[in-house]
Amino acid sequence: MLSPRILVAPSLLAADFSQLEAEIRRAEESGADWLHLDIMDGHFVDNISFGPAVVATARRHTKLPLDVHLMIEHADHYVPRFLEAGANSITVHVEPEAKHDVAQTLSAIRAAGCGAGLSLNPATGFEAVEPHLGNIDLLLVMTVHPGFGGQAFRPEMMEKVKRAKDWREAHKSMLHIEVDGGINAGTGKLSIDNGADVLVAGTSIFRTGDYAQAIRELRGSV
Ligand code: DX5
Ligand code: ZN
Repeated sequence: MLSPRILVAPSLLAADFSQLEAEIRRAEESGADWLHLDIMDGHFVDNISFGPAVVATARRHTKLPLDVHLMIEHADHYVPRFLEAGANSITVHVEPEAKHDVAQTLSAIRAAGCGAGLSLNPATGFEAVEPHLGNIDLLLVMTVHPGFGGQAFRPEMMEKVKRAKDWREAHKSMLHIEVDGGINAGTGKLSIDNGADVLVAGTSIFRTGDYAQAIRELRGSV
């Protein structure tokens, strides 16, 4: 079976917020495939990041697909605002603490013509997402506990990536398998070897001097 193309999605959370336009442009010119936007509400996770206005700002400054990751409660209530802001894919969490009807939220995202993603935290078992796999475009396997950039990658999450890859092969599906948290050239390769095809990376891109080099290294094409 053909391996999927590897996509790199820089996470804006690690960018210099005083120059968002320049940071987004540099990421795009450096070969990013998608731009990942981490939305945190201070309830579902212990941090607050930014909301639809920043997504709309990014939309004005790039043609890259905007990959919006909602780490918030009541995602169903906020999805329309992120659609309006120009998201190309919206990922929601499966944990009950996210306080929404997961199947309904996913179908509302898809009905709007947007890519639908589902994510699971390190403590959540793969079984929680299994019933939804046929109804999503993207499975986001968190490789750190969500909330903060710059944390250490958890290799034990590769078991879930492998199970998702087996499911994708068994169903001849185009499901994207995305990893998020502590991704650098080394942990990115491990993730790709286990079946991931979308790498989210904040620190290992935006906290280096040469974004293009960092993105090439993540893709494994140095
Ligand atoms: C974690 C966020 C990640 C984070 C990744 O809660 O969802 O997207 O920005 O950052 P790094 O690459 O620094 O681990
Ligand atoms: Zn994320």
